[in-house]
Amino acid sequence: MKTNIERIDKLCENRILSRKDFAILLTSMDNEDEEHLFKTARAVREKYYGKKVFLRGLIEFTNYCKNDCYYCGIRRGNKNVVRYRLSDEEIFDCCDNGYKLSFRTFVLQGGEDMFYSDEHIARIVEGIKKRCPDSAVTLSVGERSRKSYQTFFDAGADRYLLRQETSDPSHYAKLHPKELTIETRKRCLDDLKDIGFQVGCGIMVGSPYQTVDNIIDDLFYMHDFEPHMVGIGPFIPHSDTPFRDKKAGTLADTLHLLGIIRLMLPKVLLPATTALGTIHPTGREMGLSAGANVVMPNLSPTGVREKYTLYDGKICVGDEINNCLLCLEQRIKSVGYIPTAGRGDFIGFKRKQNLTDI
Ligand code: 5AD
Ligand code: FES
Repeated sequence: MKTNIERIDKLCENRILSRKDFAILLTSMDNEDEEHLFKTARAVREKYYGKKVFLRGLIEFTNYCKNDCYYCGIRRGNKNVVRYRLSDEEIFDCCDNGYKLSFRTFVLQGGEDMFYSDEHIARIVEGIKKRCPDSAVTLSVGERSRKSYQTFFDAGADRYLLRQETSDPSHYAKLHPKELTIETRKRCLDDLKDIGFQVGCGIMVGSPYQTVDNIIDDLFYMHDFEPHMVGIGPFIPHSDTPFRDKKAGTLADTLHLLGIIRLMLPKVLLPATTALGTIHPTGREMGLSAGANVVMPNLSPTGVREKYTLYDGKICVGDEINNCLLCLEQRIKSVGYIPTAGRGDFIGFKRKQNLTDI
């Protein structure tokens, strides 16, 4: 009979566990096991990234979305959303502000908004790269064709975030209308990796109908896919969605998964997400202490932030970016870490040459 402490040590050593060991670990950790998991996860992240926590400036540039995911507050079926798009100039202003505050990664996130053609997004990426030359640009604009992704990469985009949400086809079908499939989602993730992006996948913890088996499937998927980034946060219901009455994911489950993912993917860039800060006042600090090493303050203009509501109760909606940044720096320091300017690439990552450079 193995103990959970032994399971954690084994995961640290082998980077993987059997399905059965994952299942026991995910469902039966006591306080002592938890402490051991977090301590081991911190040691691993510190081995590669020291005490650094990387800051990414998040710009939510459009809340139009052609999709209708059952969990998401900006789904096209939600008629209560006041829709907005930032102009290219507004996006550049956000980056200029962020740049002065020492941000060197900008994350452009939006709904799946076809108003922005591939060429338009490429122009925005080029514009940011020109103004903020030593910065990384991360895109999070959903599913597009391989050709589109290649266009973004050739324009200079460095990274791409696209959560798989769940790797189990039947669970995927419970979270999404039938025009969205896990096959397409995985194909996108494979294309992005193949093209040469640093790629982030991820899931919502405690999403409706999620089982322990689903989570284990996601862990195996991540183990095989080897993402450079993993975005996980608790599911939080939004009152204007079909999942309005579903339960939120828990703090404990999210922290356990952060620790486990850190041990499985030692060099991964792992954010303590806004959703984690939303379900608990010090959720993000606890996330950092469980193995996370990235935070993503919001650089969007304050006027639009409340319109980009994926779930109820989102924090930082009214704060000026300066206050947000100071607040977050304080929070990072409070758990013994160092807020760090700089691109914060995945350790050892080398960018492929653009096609046009060859
Ligand atoms: N609760 C928590 N996370 C959510 N997301 C979307 N809706 C919610 C919600 N209700 C997450 C999804 C998506 C990311 C941008 O935000 O995982 O990939
Ligand atoms: Fe926009 Fe799902 S509702 S991608």
